[in-house]
Amino acid sequence: MSQTLATEADRLFAGARSVLAGGVSAALRLHPYVGRPVYLAGGEGAYVTDLDGQRYLDFNLANGAALLGHRHPGVEQAVIDCLRAGVPTAAETPSHERLAALLTEIIPAAERVRFATNGSDVTIVALRIARHATGRTAFVKFEGHYHGLLEPFLFRQADPTGADGAAIPSSGGVPVAEGEDVFVLPWNDAAAFEACLDRHGDRIAAVFCEPVHYNAGCIPPAPGFLELLRARTSAAGAVLVFDEVLSGFRMALGGAQAHYGVTPDLTTVAKALANGMPLAALAGRADLMESLAPTGPVAHSGTYSGHPLGVAAALAALEELRAPGLYDRLNATADAFYRDLQAILDRHALPVRVQGLGARFGLYFGRTAPVRSYNDARDHDHDLHKRFVLACLERGLYFHAYSRQGPPGHAGISLAHSATDLATALTAIDDVAAEMARPA
Ligand SMILES: Cc1ncc(COP(=O)(O)O)c(C=O)c1O
Repeated sequence: MSQTLATEADRLFAGARSVLAGGVSAALRLHPYVGRPVYLAGGEGAYVTDLDGQRYLDFNLANGAALLGHRHPGVEQAVIDCLRAGVPTAAETPSHERLAALLTEIIPAAERVRFATNGSDVTIVALRIARHATGRTAFVKFEGHYHGLLEPFLFRQADPTGADGAAIPSSGGVPVAEGEDVFVLPWNDAAAFEACLDRHGDRIAAVFCEPVHYNAGCIPPAPGFLELLRARTSAAGAVLVFDEVLSGFRMALGGAQAHYGVTPDLTTVAKALANGMPLAALAGRADLMESLAPTGPVAHSGTYSGHPLGVAAALAALEELRAPGLYDRLNATADAFYRDLQAILDRHALPVRVQGLGARFGLYFGRTAPVRSYNDARDHDHDLHKRFVLACLERGLYFHAYSRQGPPGHAGISLAHSATDLATALTAIDDVAAEMARPA
């Protein structure tokens, strides 16, 4: 980053801190390695531009929302058209029906759809539905799996107070009331899951997971693990929820459930659904979904639920994502990029493990063995990661970071990243790795 920008941005952050709580509108926007948010003036395709007019190839992509890249022409036009038509929020439109119909074609679990705004809005409704359907309150989640900043989901490890250094603090150290109702299990640990279901199966309303644990970089399910979740959840009469807010549309049009061929009872999508406009959806079995008000007793509504701008953007985004062969190309490009990136880092003998699936990946610094669990991901070396991220920023590559502790978080490529963009990035990273490998 240029000196001028550093000065200008530092000044801006100082001002923001006197009016915005913590100087930000969302905690994770404070770039922990830069020491303030990275202020962006705009974006186009695979690039974002900072306040100084400096362009960066974007590997954050709005936390994964901008799968098609920034200012996608079709999405932009759809949003403009919707604005010009003056479609009021808080009204149903034919577009809601059209988008829901499309999602029921695309997403294996989707027999019915309910729109909302944020990912967090729909994960909590999934839990509500599961509790109603089963008459039980307890649920299973996996270590480090992120389902939004809502009280029931704030458990990262066994400690519900958030005293775990790598945890997002739950309620400032005050245990949340539902603590005893949450079983937090290690991801990919079949024995632990079976033991929990053997012992508590009749108390469990739902099993929640990120079917690919992208919030800890990229930890795919071990072979057979999703199938095990499916089988044991069904046998226990509990509801299986795949939270695909991040994995949705990432490696297959139908998300991880289509990629792995395991269909949950309920599923959530957001982020890439509307390519950066606020829109989320809960979808699933008709009998469960019809328990939502107004048909049933389970509460869900909202002034901005299914906001028309988000719905318009999603229709345009899906139009693009449905192009035949698109995911074959995306996955081939992504795999080649991850392979070449790993080869460069290995050539410089930097201890980094690259794990990616589809358009999202994790870089595990200080680690060379496969990362299969949250505990593996916690070994991540933040000092090395910080050197990498800052050196990349200097060379025009933007990697976000979410925390100074615990797993590295996720990065990604978009469909706007061209072969030339990725080759340029690899050349710059080669330079970064050479610099990092040099003795100080
Ligand atoms: C898997 C998952 N679920 C839920 C959420 C919460 O979504 P939102 O930030 O839109 O509330 C996120 C956000 O990153 C997520 O990655």
